Amino acid sequence: MGNGDLSKYSGDSNVCTLKWKRPVLKLIDQRKLPFEEVYFECTNTEEVAEAIKEMVVRGAPAIGVTAAYGVAIAALDFKGSRKDDFLSHMDEKISDLSKTRTTAVNLFWALNRMKKIIIDNDAADIGEVIEKLILEAEKIEEEDLRINCRLGDNGLKVFEGRDRKLKVLTHCNAGALATSGYGTALAVVRSLYRAGKIENVIVDETRPFLQGARLTAWELHKEKIPFFIISDNMAGYYISKGEVDAVIVGADRIAANGDSANKIGTLGLSILAKYYRIPFYIVAPVSTIDINTETGEDIPIEERDEREVREVLGKAIIPEYMPVRNPAFDVAKAENITAIITEEGAIFPPFDKKIKKIFDSR
Ligand code: MRU
Repeated sequence: MGNGDLSKYSGDSNVCTLKWKRPVLKLIDQRKLPFEEVYFECTNTEEVAEAIKEMVVRGAPAIGVTAAYGVAIAALDFKGSRKDDFLSHMDEKISDLSKTRTTAVNLFWALNRMKKIIIDNDAADIGEVIEKLILEAEKIEEEDLRINCRLGDNGLKVFEGRDRKLKVLTHCNAGALATSGYGTALAVVRSLYRAGKIENVIVDETRPFLQGARLTAWELHKEKIPFFIISDNMAGYYISKGEVDAVIVGADRIAANGDSANKIGTLGLSILAKYYRIPFYIVAPVSTIDINTETGEDIPIEERDEREVREVLGKAIIPEYMPVRNPAFDVAKAENITAIITEEGAIFPPFDKKIKKIFDSR
């Protein structure tokens, strides 16, 4: 790790989402958690693309970091000696990586950062560009961890002054597994817990891929944060009974007006939170904000393989002849979001001008 002290955040070091040791990227296989802790090895771009597509690795920031390493691996994999061949090889591999997921903007953000290295080093020789690409991927990973620690600190500030311990509800997995470490929504939960401010976390199971039940619960268990798992349709019950003080979730893409796309089911939670007058927080790095997408209407929503709905852990639960659909994300409207917690601080509605200000100052 570079400069700066991250030791106070090291309690989750037992969750290691990715391990880079040139030229191999190892990813904890999130399809197999919580029953098996095995790593999926990527030695070429095709394996990296498969890992993202098949959800070995998932979660917007982790997808971005993985894709950046995918570009570094593509560069290391180049066998020729001519610069124009290198450039077309890189174009092709970056384009393959960009087709792996649709909604998480961090994928395209990371690929653009890697492309910029190639463009900015137009005059450099191939070996030099390769080294710069590796450095950039490592930098993206390090920055992500550092940003997540700031998300935790900024989340703590939002809850400052509250003396009662909190009961929070989260959806999907926005934890260490969805990032380089510490998480986004779970960064706030972790920091609150370490400050003695968490009574309990309610974990939505998050059908169909079960990121909540399989991944978030696994992370909370490892860190001994008290929690229980519910099926998604039980959230309204707990919220209506006053058992939830705040809903805290991550995001895959935030539009310029604050509309936030996140795992399917988030839209319903945001409406429930508003109806029952409890705060609804989005926690995400600025790299998840897509300033070029005006509103949530313009966010492309990935529709995944119908088998994810047809099956639970590989076992069919409905007959083949029954039609199913599988949109993977929905959009919480800005008007139903209490605050968006970023590394630059928490922003409160109206979001558009504050989001623009963050981008203008960069
Ligand atoms: O389909 P997934 O598992 O990649 O979706 C992940 C989510 O929706 C997360 O909540 C979001 O990416 C935030 S992760 C820090």
